[in-house]
Order: sequence, then C-alpha cells, then structure tokens
Amino acid sequence: MSTATAVACANIAFIKYWGNRDDKVRLPANPSLSMNLAGLETETTVDFADGLEQDEVMIGGEPQTGLPRDRVAAHLDVIRARAGLRHFARVQSSNNFPSGAGIASSASAFAALTLAATAAAGLSLTEPELSALARLGSGSAARSVPGGFVEWTVGQDGQPETSFAFSIAPPEHWELVDVIAIVSQKQKAVSSTSGHVLARTSPLQEARVAGAAGRLQRCRDALLAKDFTRFAEIVEADSNLMHAVMLTSNPPIIYWEPITLAIMKSIRRWRAEDLPVCFTIDAGPNVHCLCPAQAAPEVERRLRSNLDVTRILLAGPGGPARLKS
Ligand code: DP6
Repeated sequence: MSTATAVACANIAFIKYWGNRDDKVRLPANPSLSMNLAGLETETTVDFADGLEQDEVMIGGEPQTGLPRDRVAAHLDVIRARAGLRHFARVQSSNNFPSGAGIASSASAFAALTLAATAAAGLSLTEPELSALARLGSGSAARSVPGGFVEWTVGQDGQPETSFAFSIAPPEHWELVDVIAIVSQKQKAVSSTSGHVLARTSPLQEARVAGAAGRLQRCRDALLAKDFTRFAEIVEADSNLMHAVMLTSNPPIIYWEPITLAIMKSIRRWRAEDLPVCFTIDAGPNVHCLCPAQAAPEVERRLRSNLDVTRILLAGPGGPARLKS
C-alpha cells in the first residue's frame, strides 16, 4: 500500500507534559496523563508517490511551506528510514474543529500522520511502537495513539522506544466532559516546543518534575475510582504548577488573558457551591472546564451568561487513532 488515511483525536492532559530530558527525541521530563477528546479530530492522508522532488503538505487545503512543512517532512524522514523507502509523499491533513480556535492540534496531527504514513509505507507496528514514533513528531501526540484515558511513561535515558503512552481505561469508563471556553483565537506567542526548552530555566521546574509521578498516581487513583472531588484538586494543582513554571521561565511566558483568570476563579467558586467542575489550561489562554456529563449544560450556561464566553466546544472521552479503509 502506498496510500493510507488515518484519524486521531486531540487530547487534554490532566497531568501535564512540560519540559524534556532530551529535546531532540522528546523524552519527557515527567510522566503525564490525559483524555482523548471525542469529535475533535484530525484526518490525514499520506500518499508516497513517484515523481515528487520533496514532500508536499496541505493543511486545511492550504499548501504549507517553511517550518510547518519541514516538521512534517522530518517526521516522514524517520518513517522512510524505518521502512527503507525513498519516495516523497503528498500529505493532506484537516481538522474538524475550527482552525484558529486555539485547540492544540499537534497531538491529533502527529498521531494521524504517524498512523497514516506507517501504513502507507507498509510498516506494521504495535500500539506502543506507534505511540513512541508519534512522540518524535510532537510529545503529546504519543497520547493520542491509544484510546480513552491515557498515561505516557518517561522511558529510559538513551532508549527512546521505551517512552510511549498506553490506555489505563477505555472511553466508556467515565462520562467526563471537557467544556472548552475559547477566549482567544490568536496564534500562541510562544510555541510549546520553545516552552519545553525554556522550562529548564525556571527554578520551579525541578520541584514540579520531582512531584509529578506522585500527582499522576493520585490522579490515576481518583480517575479509576471516579472520585471527582479528589480528581478536581489534583488536576487544578498540576495545571497551576505548570503555569508557575511558565511564569518563572527566563524569559517568562504568560499564556493567560484576564478572562482566563476570571474563569479560573469562577470555577473554584462554583465547585465550592457544589457544581462539580475543575479547570486545566494548556499553552494558551483557553480554559478546559472538566466536569461529569450531567454538569456540562450548567457549566456551559454559566460560562455564557456569567462570563460572556461565546465560543464553547464540548468533548467527551475519545477512542484511539484509527485507519480509515
Ligand atoms: C501544555 O506536545 O504541543 O499541552 O512536543 O513540542 O509538540 P511538542 O509539544 P506539545 O506540548 C504539550 C504541552 C501541553 C501539556 C500537555 O499536553 O501535556
């Protein structure tokens, strides 16, 4: 087969990945834990074709040049080397969520690219192999390969194939919803890739990393027990720790807007008033409001009426990356 199409979901981390032990092969500084986001998907077709002089990459119908194209081409180089293939490829990729909504798409993009390109190249890889390979393109993509609730392990130094993600519970384990408050559509000022490099300049990163395995264990226990109260405390604490590192990096990175903080404070107040909801924030100003499914309509209503948030996306737990026949 020289052509294949794959689909992968975005994911939201409950315990965050921030900083690498090895930036080149994205060996993470700490383990992380996430949920795939159903319905927020990237679909990618890879066609290794005759007669191309370089990889041609289209994203959302737009031909790519410069860094975005080079990042895809570098990932295809790894896959070509593994498959002993010389052909360049035509890559067509599109997201079904609004572009510019500030929802990280590198996770779903590199998971879908990895699955489509390896299948098109005739490689047959196990899920851990695919996850470790997707990680080379974008760290969080490792977590969009398996389905449902997913843990990404740090692996051994010098052995990149040992750092991959695996499912700890299927999507139907817990009806959690991510109510995503889109407060800005601007391109983020500092890319995650640059942020990971800057993380080591923060005096707080060492403490954040030292506590990550313990937080992950507590988060996993709460998740497996479906204990929202314990889950909410640890998820917010972990997000705040990552943003503390961002704020204290040199130069500092401030991803929040005033509305981000207003939503964070409201969510803590709503939880104190017995609405089960907590927040987590990635490398941008949008707020992911996590809640059990039955609380989602009320969370959405309050975001709209109390905080004037007009753009909201909802996503429950999503499945693994898959090939389309
Ligand atoms: C804040 O996976 O986007 O979303 O490996 O450079 O592509 P690259 O970084 P990326 O980093 C994700 C950072 C985060 C936290 C997380 O998803 O764990």
